[in-house]
Amino acid sequence: MQSSIKKLGQLDGVFRDRNAWQAMNPETLVYSVQWHDPVPQDTEGGLFWGTTTIEPGRVGGEYFMTRGHFHSKRDRAEYYCTVQGEGMLVLMDEDRSTRVETMSAGSLHYIPGHTAHRTVNTGDTPLSFWACWPSDAGHDYDTIAKHPFTARILDRDGAPEVVRDEPRR
Ligand code: PA5
Ligand code: MN
Repeated sequence: MQSSIKKLGQLDGVFRDRNAWQAMNPETLVYSVQWHDPVPQDTEGGLFWGTTTIEPGRVGGEYFMTRGHFHSKRDRAEYYCTVQGEGMLVLMDEDRSTRVETMSAGSLHYIPGHTAHRTVNTGDTPLSFWACWPSDAGHDYDTIAKHPFTARILDRDGAPEVVRDEPRR
């Protein structure tokens, strides 16, 4: 089993309100991932299994969330299944159109290939979910760093609101 954690200080450029992000303690834990990799990375035909836990919290009204990624091998799909907590799964096609699925205990989410995915903790308790993905999928974070998700989940008076970018003219 392997594990990694992401603290606020490691999530530069992820949250929309940069001033609010800079004002917070960079040591704050945002999410942790534990994964089981029974075969080497890039093995065709193998599977990996992971558990992600996102802490409750907000940066300038935007909920704590994962960085999000496309798979390096774009056609590779993935399953998520929520274990506990409340959240949203943000899915974005390669043409940058987004859709959102609500996560709660037991909810199952199929992430097709060619679809960037990010999870957001919209509750006040940790959000945990299981994931299963092909061992040759890989994680492409660079594309999202250059062309971010076009929808964000903001806390509007205590309830999550999906806010989409203004259409470009
Ligand atoms: O494989 C996945 O999609 C998940 O295990 C994610 O890697 C995990 O939730 C952390 O998100 P990210 O990789 O976007 O930081
Ligand atoms: Mn993935």
